[in-house]
Amino acid sequence: MLNIIILAAGQGKRMKSQLPKVLHKIGNKSLLEHVVNAAQQLKPANIYVVYGHQGEQVHAALQHLPVQWIEQREQLGTGHAVMQVLPHLDPKGQVLILVGDAPMITANTLNKLMTKVADNSIGMVTAVLENPDGLGRILRDENNQVIGIAEQKDATPSQRKIKEINTGIILASVEKLQQWLPKVKNHNAQSEYYLPDIIPMAFAEKIIINTVICEDVCEIQGVNDRAQLAMLERYYQQQRAKELMLQGITLRDPNRFDLRGELQAAQDVTIDINVVIEGKVSIGANCYIGPNVILRDVSIGNDTEIKANSIVEQAEIADGCIVGPFARIRPETKLASNSHVGNFVELKKTSVGKKTKINHLSYIGDAVIGADVNIGAGTITCNYDGVNKHQTIIEDNVFVGSDTQLVAPITIGKGAVIGAGATVTKDVAAETLTITHRLEQRTMEKKVKGER
Ligand code: UD1
Ligand code: CA
Repeated sequence: MLNIIILAAGQGKRMKSQLPKVLHKIGNKSLLEHVVNAAQQLKPANIYVVYGHQGEQVHAALQHLPVQWIEQREQLGTGHAVMQVLPHLDPKGQVLILVGDAPMITANTLNKLMTKVADNSIGMVTAVLENPDGLGRILRDENNQVIGIAEQKDATPSQRKIKEINTGIILASVEKLQQWLPKVKNHNAQSEYYLPDIIPMAFAEKIIINTVICEDVCEIQGVNDRAQLAMLERYYQQQRAKELMLQGITLRDPNRFDLRGELQAAQDVTIDINVVIEGKVSIGANCYIGPNVILRDVSIGNDTEIKANSIVEQAEIADGCIVGPFARIRPETKLASNSHVGNFVELKKTSVGKKTKINHLSYIGDAVIGADVNIGAGTITCNYDGVNKHQTIIEDNVFVGSDTQLVAPITIGKGAVIGAGATVTKDVAAETLTITHRLEQRTMEKKVKGER
């Protein structure tokens, strides 16, 4: 039986933040949640998160995670942190210890460790770093057996030259940890109870310490400051970009693509530069997403084009639509197939029928618009009376002239035509023509020719 412990009680001073370190985000997901998600893939009996510093905040923000929360009231060291969980564990099982601030660890690497380590032995993920500063160095004997770990602050100058480091990921049997951890002392430079101090104890008992060397150092990179956070954000984005490209999606520049959620995209989707995807987004085949587009919780059908600089949020867009450039599609909007929404058009809580066009400079909110409707430039649904929102219904085949205000609640019947510049306050019957308070045009001679 496998249990997993994630150590997340540390403060993270170098983040210089009010937010606990493990709540900082990569790809809009907290560092801790990334680690929990990797842990989940191993299907452990339980995942225990040791929390402490600003624990309430961590707990509150991540309540949805399927983990057991264990409080470590004082942060007395990694060994002490693991001790808090031991009473909850079945002594017959194994426990895998992870750190909550190294978010890019993969189930793949953890599985390698699992397969390498027999029930009663110990496993560690190590890495070889060009600059191992600050990390615990792996000490090996002449037979290359791991015999201990020297923390940076305790290491001798020659130990500090060692480039193989402890990633903090350790697999051990619960029974052995229960024997060893109470014997760990805090007689070291930091006066902490070090988890790695179990290694010499294991070695003394001739227990083999297996190591898996993690080749991709980003996987084990901890986040201690915002520069490392930004570095791992880019790493994460490059991984996602690569996955998408291998699935048959064209990214015009994978270095200028940001996925902050989940993207499902069919074949031959082209995503231009600086696109940001948030929440759950699905894009059908042959779609084009233009530069600087933001899509948040959106589903898009096939053959649709979202042109540059559009922001689309909580919307359903069907096949063959054209949106943008510079369109803003707000929540609860649905575009039926082959509809067009053009530049400087804002839609909110509106459904747009098939082949309908709203191509220029309009605000349409709380509206139900039928098929084959043309909404002229500068049309505004006056949906708000200062207290309540009201609905506008525009039936099939309506033509709304430019610069029209539709004062809701209002219904424009099928096939009606509204002349340009109208302020429509009453329902309009089907197949009628409406014009409102137009002054008669007067054109006369200028007083002085050539002057303006
Ligand atoms: C630790 C290891 C070091 C390793 C490094 C990898 C020890 C003594 N040292 O060092 O060998 O190279 O991680 O990043 O283990 N934590 C708690 N409670 C505590 C102390 C720490 O939950 O009382 C958590 C922290 O939140 C963090 C993890 O344990 O997620 C590691 O703690 P940290 O203080 O960063 O240890 P390091 O000194 O970096
Ligand atoms: Ca650390």
